[in-house]
Amino acid sequence: MRRSDFEAIFEASPDAILLVGADGLIRGVNRQAEIMFGWSREEMVGEPVEMLVPEALRDDHRRHRATYRRHPVSRPMGLGMELQAVGKDGVGFPVEISLGPSSDRSGELLVVCAVRGLAQSEVLRRVGAARVLAAESERKRISRELHDDVKQSLTAIQLHLAALVEMMFSGERAAEMVVRIQHDLDRCHDSLDRVISDLMPLELEGHSLEFALSILCRRAEEDDFVVERDIRRVGDVLNAEGRLAAFRIVQEALNNAKQHSGVGRATVRYWRDGQRLCAEVTDAGGGFSPDDLKPHLSVGLVGMRERSQILGGRLTVSSEPGAGTSILLEVPLRSGPRS
Ligand SMILES: Nc1ncnc2c1ncn2[C@@H]1O[C@H](COP(=O)(O)OP(=O)(O)OP(=O)(O)O)[C@@H](O)[C@H]1O
Ligand SMILES: [Mg+2]
Repeated sequence: MRRSDFEAIFEASPDAILLVGADGLIRGVNRQAEIMFGWSREEMVGEPVEMLVPEALRDDHRRHRATYRRHPVSRPMGLGMELQAVGKDGVGFPVEISLGPSSDRSGELLVVCAVRGLAQSEVLRRVGAARVLAAESERKRISRELHDDVKQSLTAIQLHLAALVEMMFSGERAAEMVVRIQHDLDRCHDSLDRVISDLMPLELEGHSLEFALSILCRRAEEDDFVVERDIRRVGDVLNAEGRLAAFRIVQEALNNAKQHSGVGRATVRYWRDGQRLCAEVTDAGGGFSPDDLKPHLSVGLVGMRERSQILGGRLTVSSEPGAGTSILLEVPLRSGPRS
């Protein structure tokens, strides 16, 4: 095919296509991109691609771009998230974006971005699917906990009771066995407390989020795991739904630090900065590449993002292999749910 044929195909593509340089500047766009974003070709070429990203997400986008530059591969953008683009009229709309690395004549990275608008029905279908997955994963976790802790303890109690009955009939000392059964019952009690608290954190009922977070940190400090905390008094700035959403985000981030970081230590911070409520969980562990995660295997992170949307807030996941992880939740208090 001749060069002009390729150009004709580029122009006729039903997806909007942007060519973006390593410096983040738009090098070329096709006709569909003009229609989708409402800017003319001349208005877009030479501008930073962030002009097409909602303002609140531009910093995140610059960071993701830098990561992509280091690992340029063909892949969809975003982690099962609803991606938003913004047009000339300033109105955001849901899109799906795929990225592919190419190079310009001088051998510099040129990223081909195919952008497809999503119909509202598709957005709703995806949100629904993510919710079902999140609920399933929550059920699996509870069932695992019930199986591993409560059921094991009950089995131990059954066995010890049977032994006790035999001892009583054979005249052996039964007191020791009674103490063991007491111990099993204590463990069972603790496990049930944990499951109940996971299902609905009772410490949130009638208490501030800072109180519930302090208890969460204390509970996480088992099996030699240390949680450093800097939890400030913020007062009643979120309603019950908002408190639960923020609590769940910190809970999942802390669970992840415990399960995946590979270091026995994490830090939880909670504070208010003017009209912004912030919560952050960090660890100095193994880290990961957020861009490489598969949405269906990352239900915890997808759930965190959904909850931050419920809060009208922003979740920044910063992690790199070998460089630790930080999960930062920021909620603007003017627009977030309040009591
Ligand atoms: N603090 C962390 N340190 C290192 N890797 C992490 C950290 N947090 C998340 N990850 C990586 O991201 C992946 C996705 O996390 P996510 O919470 O979505 O799922 P999960 O923890 O594997 O499963 P689930 O939360 O559904 O039980 C993890 O499997 C892990 O590889
Ligand atoms: Mg997780």
